[in-house]
Amino acid sequence: MKEIQVKDLQLNPMTLISDGWMLITAGNEQNGFNTMTASWGHLGAIWGTNKGLPTATVYIRPQRYTKEFVDREEEFTLSFFSNDYKRQLAYLGTHSGRDEDKVAKMGLTPEFVDNTTYFKEADLVLVCRKIYKAPLVEEGFLDKKLITENYPEKDFHTMYIGEIKKVLVRE
Ligand SMILES: Cc1cc2nc3c(=O)[nH]c(=O)nc-3n(C[C@H](O)[C@H](O)[C@H](O)COP(=O)(O)O)c2cc1C
Repeated sequence: MKEIQVKDLQLNPMTLISDGWMLITAGNEQNGFNTMTASWGHLGAIWGTNKGLPTATVYIRPQRYTKEFVDREEEFTLSFFSNDYKRQLAYLGTHSGRDEDKVAKMGLTPEFVDNTTYFKEADLVLVCRKIYKAPLVEEGFLDKKLITENYPEKDFHTMYIGEIKKVLVRE
């Protein structure tokens, strides 16, 4: 992988995340890591003193094992893959790292950098530093239909905003 500037990224965040999916990963070589598939999230800018910090926002339900790692660590990564890895991402999004070593089972290779973890097979990796965390709350939903559709168990996601500190692309 080679590092590029965030401003040199050429992508469509709508299709990248919702069609292509991504792995949210946190943890490190010493203390262990976990990963899960996600298809909801945002890329953009907020805060900062100039044009806004480049940021990625992800949403994690309380029951995900990955949430324990994202909560514990200061960094997380977003790894994006070619369509060849759809089967692996589907598996990582339907099985929990609590129950098995799903990463080894799917043949992905963890790479450890900046106190966090990404995958060698990825085409694009965003290394993020957590800067904001908040649960989505029932009162916040102006369209209440979204609650019945998405949260029959009232297991609202927690939102995490990460400052994009490093962008790695396949060479
Ligand atoms: C395509 C796809 C997208 C998903 N998107 C999300 C998401 O954005 N947020 C979330 O909390 N779970 C999402 N999931 C579910 C988690 O990936 C899944 O529950 C996973 O098994 C959690 O693994 P863990 O317990 O090892 O963390 C998605 C699953 C799939 C298959």
